[in-house]
Amino acid sequence: MFQPKHLLIAIILGGLFIPSVSWADNTDDIIKYRKAVYTSMRGHIGAISRIVRAGLGDYKGHITDHAVAIQNAAKIVPSMFPEGSDFGDTGALESIWTDQKGFEKASQRLVDASGELVTVSQSGDMKAIGKAVGAVGGACKNCHDNYRASN
Ligand code: HEC
Repeated sequence: MFQPKHLLIAIILGGLFIPSVSWADNTDDIIKYRKAVYTSMRGHIGAISRIVRAGLGDYKGHITDHAVAIQNAAKIVPSMFPEGSDFGDTGALESIWTDQKGFEKASQRLVDASGELVTVSQSGDMKAIGKAVGAVGGACKNCHDNYRASN
């Protein structure tokens, strides 16, 4: 006779076995995960640039939200590169692991630049905001120049 209890046990055991299937699968997912985080950063900076360049004054107040999102993402950047995640479909350079201090510094530069943008965005001064956006872009580029393959 069908016993729901057995089904439950099967599900639990099945669930337990999944993580041990392959270590490499996990690495692929970490790489996909960090790419998704970076893609979200690009989305936010793109949204800010659109507001600034097109002079969308009605949306000026949104710049703070986008800047906070970038800053939050920047804070978790170093943790997305565990040892061993340098193989696979990744543009991460070896220098991330051989020069961890420099990589953390490059991440911090983005935390600081986006923090500055959060502050300046509250002033509503579009010229100052434009300048702060430029500094954020500079922090992205600085890290890419040193730690990302330029395919
Ligand atoms: C501290 C270093 C660092 C900073 C700061 C940084 N990036 Fe990156 N970025 C990387 C690395 C390394 C990769 C490659 C990740 C991979 O392929 O595993 C990457 C990849 C990307 C990608 C490609 C994602 C994909 O799908 O392949 C985009 C887009 C991106 N970054 C945008 C940005 C933007 C926008 C900023 C600034 C707001 C930024 N990054 C700041 C290091 C950085």
